[in-house]
Amino acid sequence: MITSLAYFGATSPDYKEWESFGPSILGCELVEPGPDGAVCLRFDEMAYRVAIHPGEENGVAYVGWETTGIEGAGQVVARLEAYGIKAKRASEDEAAVRKVIGFYWFIDPAGIRHELIWGHMRSKTSFHPGRAMSGFRTGDQGLGHVVFAVPDLEQNDRFYRDVLGFKLSDTVDMPPIYAFFYHVNGRHHSLAVARAPGDKAAFLHLMIETRSLDDVGAGLDLCLKHDIPITRTLGCHTNDRMVSFYLQSPANFRIEYGWGGEDVDDLCAPRYYDQTSSWGHHPQHPELSPFLPIKPANQQG
Ligand SMILES: [Fe+2]
Repeated sequence: MITSLAYFGATSPDYKEWESFGPSILGCELVEPGPDGAVCLRFDEMAYRVAIHPGEENGVAYVGWETTGIEGAGQVVARLEAYGIKAKRASEDEAAVRKVIGFYWFIDPAGIRHELIWGHMRSKTSFHPGRAMSGFRTGDQGLGHVVFAVPDLEQNDRFYRDVLGFKLSDTVDMPPIYAFFYHVNGRHHSLAVARAPGDKAAFLHLMIETRSLDDVGAGLDLCLKHDIPITRTLGCHTNDRMVSFYLQSPANFRIEYGWGGEDVDDLCAPRYYDQTSSWGHHPQHPELSPFLPIKPANQQG
């Protein structure tokens, strides 16, 4: 069983920029680099939760999901195999790089690499934010949420629900946007998928949630001060009531920087909306594509 979003990995030729961008803008903590030189960032007591690896192109490499343990991960692997997708067990060295006891990995029907982890290592030192802020809302709700665009939305919807065990929180139908939002814990959604305009899957954004509205305001001021593109203005989402803005990161993917997301529980009937936002979230910088490529399977390690 999957319990939360554990971590996120991307590649970028500008990965080094994250050494200052991560702490000084987002407020995360820079820790020891990975063996390939990856910039690793902490958000809480975990060893790290975001890794930006060196690479020739910007792209998403993997998404890590915490499970209830090796047995829980094994149950998902059994469902994957019944569906026709083979999962591979990572080596001890690969697990050590991710700072976990172990993980299985597989490629989903849209080409996205997922890792099913257990034993996420906690740091021996307390979290020190990279700038003055109150920290991030993680814990049982994990890192935040990830959003992808997929060409065959119905196929991926069935896969995420029937095979991975995600539960539908709600649907947004706001042409040309059509998207499903899924939860695995109290966070309204840890994963969302929208219908892609073409035949390729893409990454849309990573959401991280601060502990205070002031942290979002301070982040907004820092983006303005340092000319970091704000791709959606401050706004509030209809479904999770998150107050947030979107910025373009140095790895060319968008980060939703938010506060105040509402919780969901399994007894709530899935809701249906025809708008993504109650107010704000006006698109800016039309020259910057919202779609980040998914790395090909042989480059996702
Ligand atoms: Fe979001």
